[in-house]
Amino acid sequence: MSEDQGGYNRTLTSNNQINRLLTKLVQDVSEFTENQLDQIKRLTQIGTALSAEKSLDHLLEMIVDHARKFTNADAGTLYIMSDDETELNFAIVQNDLLKVRMGGTGGEISWPPIPLKNADDSPNYANVSAYAAISGETVNIPDVYDAKGFNFEGTKKFDKGTGYRSKSMMVVPLRNHENDIIGVLQLLNAQDPSTGDVIIFSQECQEMTLSLASQAAVALSNNRLIHDLQNLLESFIKTIATAIDEKSPYTGGHVRRVAELTMTIAQKVNHANEGPFASIKLSDDQLQELRLAAWLHDVGKITTPEHVVDKARKLETVHDRINEIRARFELLKKEYRLEMQKNTSNQDNSGVKTSEELAEIIKQLDEEYKFLAELNNGSEFTRDEMIARINEIAKRTWLVDGQTMPLLSADEITNLSIRRGTLNDEERNIINNHALVTHKMLSQLPFPKKLRHIAEYAAAHHEKIDGTGYPMGLKGDQISLQSRIIAIADIFEALTAKDRPYKVGKTMAEALKIMEFMVKDNHIDAELYALFIKEKIYEDYMNSKSVP
Ligand SMILES: [Fe+2]
Ligand SMILES: [Fe+2]
Repeated sequence: MSEDQGGYNRTLTSNNQINRLLTKLVQDVSEFTENQLDQIKRLTQIGTALSAEKSLDHLLEMIVDHARKFTNADAGTLYIMSDDETELNFAIVQNDLLKVRMGGTGGEISWPPIPLKNADDSPNYANVSAYAAISGETVNIPDVYDAKGFNFEGTKKFDKGTGYRSKSMMVVPLRNHENDIIGVLQLLNAQDPSTGDVIIFSQECQEMTLSLASQAAVALSNNRLIHDLQNLLESFIKTIATAIDEKSPYTGGHVRRVAELTMTIAQKVNHANEGPFASIKLSDDQLQELRLAAWLHDVGKITTPEHVVDKARKLETVHDRINEIRARFELLKKEYRLEMQKNTSNQDNSGVKTSEELAEIIKQLDEEYKFLAELNNGSEFTRDEMIARINEIAKRTWLVDGQTMPLLSADEITNLSIRRGTLNDEERNIINNHALVTHKMLSQLPFPKKLRHIAEYAAAHHEKIDGTGYPMGLKGDQISLQSRIIAIADIFEALTAKDRPYKVGKTMAEALKIMEFMVKDNHIDAELYALFIKEKIYEDYMNSKSVP
């Protein structure tokens, strides 16, 4: 027999099997009552609804709601296994007759958990829910008042206090796809749909509830897994961002404050019912994406040397070189003083400077050093005549190991001549490069689809509306609303921070004035800035921020 024929025969065989299975299925289905088919349909719908629910609180409530509806139970309790698997925590408590709805969206239940072990380390089989969690068995009790083997004293006490009568009970363990028991569902008082009388949970009802329980367990596990991963991602991002912030003692807290301010602005955008933002509603996923982008906006600073980030003086490298210059001035002065002494001991002064002249030079040197030291602070704009004076001073010479050297090196002249602030062009480029590095780093990370814009939002926080920003020189609409929000938060935080070495913190009024100029210059988003002012976001921020 050829292989083809063999294949044909195998196909025939498998077709026969399928036909037999289909015939059996049709027979089985035809044996189902309409009610059973309806219940299977409902189970499928419940499974779909449970797996689609993102909020854990809603999911927990849905499980009990659906299970009660499905079994026509008056009350239901859902327990979730503790992380160390030693006890069951109350997650949801519902009782229709007593009008009780606790847990889930209503907040945590403060009732003490049920231990899975007794004080002597033996399993707590007396508690029916603990028993189901330990044994993995379903317990179906017609009347808890007659039940043997379990302790229902607590239930009876509860009934006495409330006038309730607990009767039929079904307790089902929630087993996930890894076969771990992650919780217990307890249903109480099944009711006859037509009479409302309490009846026992039927066998059929038990099987269906088991199926529902396993769907609930898988949905819960998935939900927990997603939340755990999200938590891990968020914590990891915050740890990295904080570590980079902490590289410099001066920027510590910057990223956290920018992230907080970003979210405040975003919330105000979302709540705006009129004006340019009335139609913008960022979803929860978009808000999360924005929050993480804000946390990561300066992640590129990981490659920026601290001495550049923290450069407080024009001459600073790893240390402030003004001290070296000071030493040179002192040496020069010493030379002139020596010369003065020689003048007084030597009567023949022809061809050398008089003592008065030398004293004048020493005075000049003091003034020149004072001028350079002040210039080194970078607090003042450096004008042309100041730069000319630096170059004049640099022409002086001093002796090193018998060699004549200029008083200031070319690099010192360049740095002292910085027009504004303390950074020279090269250092400014190094600082600016962090936005590009942010983009490079983040765009390589496989963020989930809903967080896919993080790199774009984070890296564009130094872009300006008029296209003069960096790293890409994006213009107008090319800059997303999210990046514009982070930009405003970043600028306001930086302006008002009091912990930077290169500048004193500006008052709120000064900061707002500077930002007004930025609006006029078309650097930041005018509409967002108007919202920032109208909603007094700056005030709330200044009042709440935890910096000195
Ligand atoms: Fe930045
Ligand atoms: Fe920043």
